[in-house]
Amino acid sequence: MERTFIIVKPEAVKRGLVGEILKRFEQKGLQIKRLQMSTISEDTAKVHYGHHADKPFFPDLLAAITAGPVVMAVLEGPNAIGHVRNLIGATNPLEAKPGSIRGDFAVANPYNMVHASDSPETAAAEIARFFGPDA
Ligand code: CMP
Repeated sequence: MERTFIIVKPEAVKRGLVGEILKRFEQKGLQIKRLQMSTISEDTAKVHYGHHADKPFFPDLLAAITAGPVVMAVLEGPNAIGHVRNLIGATNPLEAKPGSIRGDFAVANPYNMVHASDSPETAAAEIARFFGPDA
């Protein structure tokens, strides 16, 4: 069994897509193990997206992820990391296939609706960052 971490981003919460997005993970067969709504602080966003600090879009990315409340979840299931990344689609909404979350609901970065962990190491770090070291 594998666990992964997702953020339903502020633009998706504003558009009322929380239920639609969580439904897609649940109907695939993944279990929601933890769930919370909160607003990400600028300091936490800088840590979370620290690997993008040198990118020209970093300020826009920080502004987008701190713009309002998000919904964060820990999802569990066989190959959860890969399944979730397939369900959300390519990072660039223009390349995300119709049928994927980004392909169906997003038109341009940084507003790609969902963040998801890309490896077991990242998932462990992100779960600990947002749900605490014992999650
Ligand atoms: P996410 O999966 O949360 O991880 C990093 C985020 O950076 C990504 O989703 C997008 O929101 C954002 N991003 C990636 N590439 C670009 C880009 N070229 N311009 C603006 N934002 C981007």
